[in-house]
Amino acid sequence: MDTILIKGGHIIDPENNINDEFDIIVDKGKIVKVEKDITPFAYSKVIDASNCIISPSFTDLHVHFRDPGQTYKEDIKTGSMAAVAGGFTTVVCMPNTIPAIDEPSLVRYVIEKGEEVGLCRVLPAAAVTKGRRGKQLTEMALLKDAGAVYFTDDGAPVVDSHIMRKAMEYAASLGTFVANHCEDLSLSKDGVAHEGEISAALGLPPLPPEAEETMVARDCILSIRTGAPVHICHISTKLAVEVVAWAKAMGANITAEVTPHHLYLCDDEWLDFHCKAKVSPPLREYEDIEAVRWGLSSKIIDYVATDHAPHAHHEKMLDHWNCPPGMIGLQFALPIVMELVRKDYITMKRAIEALSTEPAKKIGLKPPSIVEGEKAEFVIFNPNEPWEVTEDKILSKSKNTPLLGRKLRGKVKYTFFNGKIVYEDTSKEEFCYD
Ligand code: NCD
Ligand code: ZN
Ligand code: ZN
Ligand code: ZN
Repeated sequence: MDTILIKGGHIIDPENNINDEFDIIVDKGKIVKVEKDITPFAYSKVIDASNCIISPSFTDLHVHFRDPGQTYKEDIKTGSMAAVAGGFTTVVCMPNTIPAIDEPSLVRYVIEKGEEVGLCRVLPAAAVTKGRRGKQLTEMALLKDAGAVYFTDDGAPVVDSHIMRKAMEYAASLGTFVANHCEDLSLSKDGVAHEGEISAALGLPPLPPEAEETMVARDCILSIRTGAPVHICHISTKLAVEVVAWAKAMGANITAEVTPHHLYLCDDEWLDFHCKAKVSPPLREYEDIEAVRWGLSSKIIDYVATDHAPHAHHEKMLDHWNCPPGMIGLQFALPIVMELVRKDYITMKRAIEALSTEPAKKIGLKPPSIVEGEKAEFVIFNPNEPWEVTEDKILSKSKNTPLLGRKLRGKVKYTFFNGKIVYEDTSKEEFCYD
């Protein structure tokens, strides 16, 4: 399969200002022609991309592949399979593995295992503090040299403000940044569900939104004072978005990401008492969802990151306190963002920036380009095709998501990476559109 002709697709490549219908010829992994109406003749494979968008492949700067240490939940191979099925060809693995990614040999392990699997680019984020214990900074320069793309203790906040400030300054001097899981643990306490009508009605231990908001504010102030960049992981409340908007207006070097689940689901997912709804930060209220959608469209929130957090079935069956927080996300990012496009919250171009080019640039990668001479690294997706979320379609080892059994619209058809097709959708589903 040396030559592939892709016919009838609509290319959107924001970095190269392309937004039009073109056919593409890929030969030996390279894009050799991007032109209108190429006649199919003697190509070894023709892909019908009518009704599809072709965009640079997606980048997810926040995934948990649990490798090393908890590979019964996920490993770098199954995580990579889920990634390319979701249209992602670059992912950044969080360091909250066992052991934590806090030394260069562990950074190398993730990179080398990712390369061995070869489905996509698997890059590690390294821990801010040794063992993610919050006490002592890691050897950040050595970790960076080994290939860590940024620093975070995700799963836990950097609680100590002095350590946070020092880490931000070191990271800045190395040309990178710290990403913080903003949660004041003395406020979140044993909270399980967002504090509001739902937690009260169900009697679930409440987790107040200010647990997130106060630490977002602290990090904004540290960034304004030091000039060092800071990144806010999984922003989820209206007030947190407003704080980031304020800090950006003050000229702070701050970025924020939002997850598909915080863009789409609210705390009424708890109504059947099942811990599939448990995630950190918790699912919020309708006005928070509206706020993060607005934040994404107005670029107060810079990009989408899935926070793909696989957990085993037996773990998600535990009681509310003991069940680990987290839900998978890699295969739902595209359909959820497409729902926002359909409902006019964001434009298709902004959707592609938020899934692809913005996160790539954030870690200093040149976003993939759909132009002649480049290696093929793009995704072909039908933004409207409906599908039902069923366990067999989830390529992750873990199936923990409240979306099981629901119908979504927006489907990845092909993912290209490093000149090759790394994912092809073969499922057939008959649906009437509602
Ligand atoms: C994440 C996990 O499971 O590692 N869980 C979650 O609910 N988001 C940790 C994290 O992202 O904070
Ligand atoms: Zn987190
Ligand atoms: Zn809801
Ligand atoms: Zn996370």
